[in-house]
Amino acid sequence: MGVVTVITSGKGGVGKSTLAAGLGSAMAKRGKRALLIDGDAGLSCLDHMLGIAQERVYDVGDVISGNAELNRAIYRCPWQERLYLLAAPFSEAEIVSPGVMKQLVSALARYYDYIFIDCPAGLGAGFASAVAAAERALLVSTPDPVCLRNAARTRVALEHEGLLQQRLVVNRFSGEAFRRQGVYHSLDDVIDAAGVRLIAVIPEDPGLAAAGAGGSGFPEHTQGALAIGRLAARLEGEQVPLVSLRRF
Ligand SMILES: Nc1ncnc2c1ncn2[C@@H]1O[C@H](COP(=O)(O)OP(=O)(O)O)[C@@H](O)[C@H]1O
Ligand SMILES: [Mg+2]
Repeated sequence: MGVVTVITSGKGGVGKSTLAAGLGSAMAKRGKRALLIDGDAGLSCLDHMLGIAQERVYDVGDVISGNAELNRAIYRCPWQERLYLLAAPFSEAEIVSPGVMKQLVSALARYYDYIFIDCPAGLGAGFASAVAAAERALLVSTPDPVCLRNAARTRVALEHEGLLQQRLVVNRFSGEAFRRQGVYHSLDDVIDAAGVRLIAVIPEDPGLAAAGAGGSGFPEHTQGALAIGRLAARLEGEQVPLVSLRRF
């Protein structure tokens, strides 16, 4: 049975979808079958990031309303074998209920090694749907106080949902910006602000931003892509030390 991970944050624009696409791609490169579930009904952007926006016809809303079989709403990534996407509906009115999400995920988990659920911003119905079927959560935050406050609130919301296996991913880290901001003295302060154990630091990386915008593949050798690759290895249980942040 596949491992089901929700990628969440509270705040929008912190890199959840980028991380979902990057991690899915990294797992697929490791030879694993990976499914991304776009939980962001209304804004759905993973189809664009994966380069299938043009071909998508059906989404999870069509499956639930009986217009399409489940496998018709799952698309193969054109640039990465073993990577798939279950597309989100275009309307927030079609957010999948938590109960149905659990049924969907349990039906799908036997066909994939990893399922990553990309959570929308906020802690409303979309959040409840996205976290319902997850067994672990990656909490994404940039290293700034407002975002970390949202991450801390999300940690509590996840605990309320019974999702206790949480790890923090600090995204868009830049040593220079971090020092200039001057709010935190070290990464330990950042971890304390979120209240969640750290699993990865992903640097600010124009290569990742371009990949997300382009929809034609993720870089392999930029600092950001390498950091996501190390995160994938850790999720598979490998002991991979954090690299020195001086590099970022
Ligand atoms: N590590 C990174 N370095 C540079 N840009 C990033 C990084 N992570 C995300 N971005 C950019 O930040 C913006 C928001 O990312 P996105 O993944 O859509 O966030 P979310 O899903 O949390 O709303 C996008 O333009 C994306 O390309
Ligand atoms: Mg997103």
